[in-house]
Amino acid sequence: MNKTFQHAETILVVEDDPGDFGLIRALIRLAHHVQSDDEEPVIWAQTLVDGLTKAGQQQPDVVLLDLSLPDSSGVATVRSMRTALPDVPIVVLTGHDDSWLSIAALEAGAQDYLVKGQFDVDALKRAVRNARVRGALESRLRLLNETLEQRVQEELAKNREKDLVLIQQSRLATMGEVLHNIAHQWRQPLNALAVLQANIKDAFEYGELTRESIVKYTEDGERYIQKMSKTIDDFRNFFQSAEKSTRFNLVESVRQALSIMDASFEVGKIAIAVETPVDVFVEGMFNELSHALLNVLVNARDAIKAKGRPDGVILIWLAHEDNMGIIRIRDNGGGIPEKALSKVFDPYFTTKENGTGIGLYMTRMILEHMHGRIEARNVEDGAEIAIFVPAVSPPTS
Ligand SMILES: Nc1ncnc2c1ncn2[C@@H]1O[C@H](COP(=O)(O)OP(=O)(O)OP(=O)(O)O)[C@@H](O)[C@H]1O
Ligand SMILES: [Mg+2]
Repeated sequence: MNKTFQHAETILVVEDDPGDFGLIRALIRLAHHVQSDDEEPVIWAQTLVDGLTKAGQQQPDVVLLDLSLPDSSGVATVRSMRTALPDVPIVVLTGHDDSWLSIAALEAGAQDYLVKGQFDVDALKRAVRNARVRGALESRLRLLNETLEQRVQEELAKNREKDLVLIQQSRLATMGEVLHNIAHQWRQPLNALAVLQANIKDAFEYGELTRESIVKYTEDGERYIQKMSKTIDDFRNFFQSAEKSTRFNLVESVRQALSIMDASFEVGKIAIAVETPVDVFVEGMFNELSHALLNVLVNARDAIKAKGRPDGVILIWLAHEDNMGIIRIRDNGGGIPEKALSKVFDPYFTTKENGTGIGLYMTRMILEHMHGRIEARNVEDGAEIAIFVPAVSPPTS
């Protein structure tokens, strides 16, 4: 026997007409095989408000809902019930002449409908069973959708966090280059200061220390200290985080990036050739663009170093074409492996043992921020990176 109606199942019937209710109740009792009043499976409400109240108190398994009640009519009735009971299946009861409402009712969240006076026990059973199955499926779908939405949000938040970590990591990597360069640039004035100190001591021991020589020693010492201090100021400026957008000459950006790499190129015996036949002005964060160039220069140095080339060369040249300022950076470090070419701008793509794979990703982000772009290709015996930034007119001041 098909036991669609469990004895534990309660059905809320929201129906203002006592005659119609009596009939429905009788059918339900038949379907339930109810023998005594103790097993009453039906809760009766005559208005929508009454129905909502009873639904809240007694948690029915199914609702049979008349669409024209004293306090609500039509599709609005379904909507109110659906909002109050998001997971309980609703079977709508329509009159003979408003059965067209049934489609709208289904759209508003009902699971099935019955036309009053035209259904028997079997039709009732079937409608209730269908409504329950459909309701359960819809609830699961809703839950899945919510979980999916939540997971998308979580992934987005994770990605944002990752980007922040990336920027931080990239800054730290650059800091290594900067410290290396400061150390390199300090060596000479530090040595000079050490010699100066020894000279003062000698002069004193040989009785040659005069007022004039003291003044000269002090002035020299001051000069060396100034030089060291300037090195620090130059680089501190590079790390300024609260930077404003300005108009600047691309040459300046190239110059700043090169000044940070100076020491590294000297140590690696890498020759640099810079061609700047044009002045191109662009708009954006000056230090950010230098940072982007720096990432490209570091890669060129790494490639030359990895190849062990004694004649390493980096060529940098500027152009102004189609309203774009273009910086091309070409090295002779052997180039990018063909199958890596399409991936070098992806985050975390690296072929280096100690690489993080964020250098070029960061560079791409910085350029996109400036409405520019970056491209990579292989040339004769190395790689060429081209950076495009929209050109603007020079600043007026
Ligand atoms: N000039 C180049 N010559 C050869 N290969 C290059 C060059 N520039 C980039 N690549 C390739 O692109 C990859 C990604 O470069 P990217 O700067 O994003 O990361 P990385 O240098 O490996 O690590 P990170 O810059 O984070 O320290 C490199 O690992 C390398 O394989
Ligand atoms: Mg890199």
